[in-house]
Amino acid sequence: MSHVSAIKKMSDIKQILEQALEAINNANDLHMVEHARVNYLGKKGILTEKLKQLGKLSIEDRPRAGQEINQAKTKLLDAIAGKKQKIEKKQFSEKISSEQIDISLPGKGQTPGNIHPITQTLFEIQEIFSTNGFEIADGPEIEDNYHNFEALNIPEDHPARAMHDTFYFDADRLLRTHTSNVQIRYMKENAPPIAIIAPGKVFRCDSDMTHTPMFHQIEGFLIDKNVTFADLKGVLNSFLNKYFNRELQVRFRPSYFPFTEPSAEVDIMGDAGWMEILGCGMVHPNVLKNVGINSDEYSGFAFGLGVERMAMLKYGIDDIRLFFENDIRFLKQF
Ligand code: DAH
Repeated sequence: MSHVSAIKKMSDIKQILEQALEAINNANDLHMVEHARVNYLGKKGILTEKLKQLGKLSIEDRPRAGQEINQAKTKLLDAIAGKKQKIEKKQFSEKISSEQIDISLPGKGQTPGNIHPITQTLFEIQEIFSTNGFEIADGPEIEDNYHNFEALNIPEDHPARAMHDTFYFDADRLLRTHTSNVQIRYMKENAPPIAIIAPGKVFRCDSDMTHTPMFHQIEGFLIDKNVTFADLKGVLNSFLNKYFNRELQVRFRPSYFPFTEPSAEVDIMGDAGWMEILGCGMVHPNVLKNVGINSDEYSGFAFGLGVERMAMLKYGIDDIRLFFENDIRFLKQF
């Protein structure tokens, strides 16, 4: 090969380098940079081919041309590395700015909770009775046979015991099946006149649309001289009208409870006819005797109502279990 053609070879390389640098310069993603690298420096790349052809040059021309090609290669590799870095930096800053949090956007907001409908109902009922002069008392949820049954005139073999579906811990310890235990505990400690309501949890081994193993009752009792069934009717009529906020049709239907005599169940007239709403009666002389109150001197009435039932009747809820599922969509309606 002549000197002239060797010089030409070198100007070729200059041109190739310029083209390659331009290709790298124009690349705007890593993919394009890689494409240019393979095109010039890959196994079959244009510059690689030139290196392979070095052998065809004359001995004198070879070192110069070799040096030229290697310099071009280094420049190209530098350019590729520089470009890659530039692209990566740009991609990174784009990512950062796209992930930026706009602190001026409105927040998701928080909805305030509200008092559980059963608690609301408890408060409402307590409020009505407090206004009428009743005080609030409570008693233990873990009880013994004496306070839950015996003192309330429900002896061991009494069929009413079976009706209570009692949860027992052992022979003499149980979860109270009603709030009537408070009658015994309160009257043992306090002398008449007495006017008490006792709200609280009660427990029975029962579960369906109208029963849950735990529910709430409010017990009421009033003991004084000359208390009659008419007083009981007056107190309950006034309470029911206030609670349901309308003039109700109320009916007292004869019934039986061991701890009251006479006993009655109270029904109110609703859309579907008469609905039973609570139990009541005149405190049985045996109960008064058990708590040390002279039944010749004093008489009184008592009543017990289910709080869930009161709420269900007021709000038209047909499944008691809704109160305990804690579904926010249900609870927030109250
Ligand atoms: N303790 C009764 C029950 O759980 C409810 C009850 C009825 C209470 C009549 C009373 C009452 O005080 O007089 O079924």
